[in-house]
Amino acid sequence: VADAHPVPVAERGHPARRLVIAIDGPSGSGKSTVARAVAGRLRLRYLDSGAMYRAVTWLALQDRIDLEDAETLAGLAAKIDLRIGTDPAHPTVTVAETDVASAIRTRAVTNAVSVVSSVPGVRLHLVRRQREIIGAGGIVVEGRDIGQVVVPDAQLKIFLTATSETRAERRTRDLTEVSGPVDRASELAQTRAEIERRDRLDTTRVTSPLVRADEALVIDSTALTVDEVVALIVAQIPGRLPAGRGADR
Ligand code: DC
Repeated sequence: VADAHPVPVAERGHPARRLVIAIDGPSGSGKSTVARAVAGRLRLRYLDSGAMYRAVTWLALQDRIDLEDAETLAGLAAKIDLRIGTDPAHPTVTVAETDVASAIRTRAVTNAVSVVSSVPGVRLHLVRRQREIIGAGGIVVEGRDIGQVVVPDAQLKIFLTATSETRAERRTRDLTEVSGPVDRASELAQTRAEIERRDRLDTTRVTSPLVRADEALVIDSTALTVDEVVALIVAQIPGRLPAGRGADR
């Protein structure tokens, strides 16, 4: 996977250049908004690992692959021409040079992604690509298994959560942006049911389920603004910078 848009991170040799901030949590907890804002504030790169699972799912639907066929799905994850831009101000996702940033947020993809992301072979390939992008650090990474599996030695691990009602409201807003006007009440009820279903699948799957790392700082964003969550995270940084100025990892 190529990192299409590397952004300048904190000055070369500065410890923040090697910092990895892992932000895990269920869908709608505010991970993307918060992770992008934290990365922007600290001049770090940003990686949306969920977008990678969504891109593979999008391609599987395009290619009409049977979602029960784990082997073919794993093969797809191995060979997909996926590019992820890590500029927090302009995150991009392309598959074979097609911009799929909106296409991966449709309901069809959202409903199929839990199944695709539960395939161990898919996770194997995507985790490998995530580690390539993360490289020496200087990045905020959001997902489900970042602190536990992808970067267990991340200096800062956040577990961001919110009630399923609040998360459904946020997702309904997101969906309106990609799908146009919708009937809010029925949309909300449907989205909440889907979120709860996806939570169930994400937390009970065998490979890398969504679980909180013991050392993670838990932030419940239900009653907090984005700025408040960002401030809580940024306040953690001074004590967590990798030791010494030395060479970049
Ligand atoms: O964060 P999101 O809603 O865009 O994630 C899409 C799906 O991908 C979600 O069902 C969980 C899965 N996912 C995962 O299994 N591991 C990750 N690191 C990120 C997302």
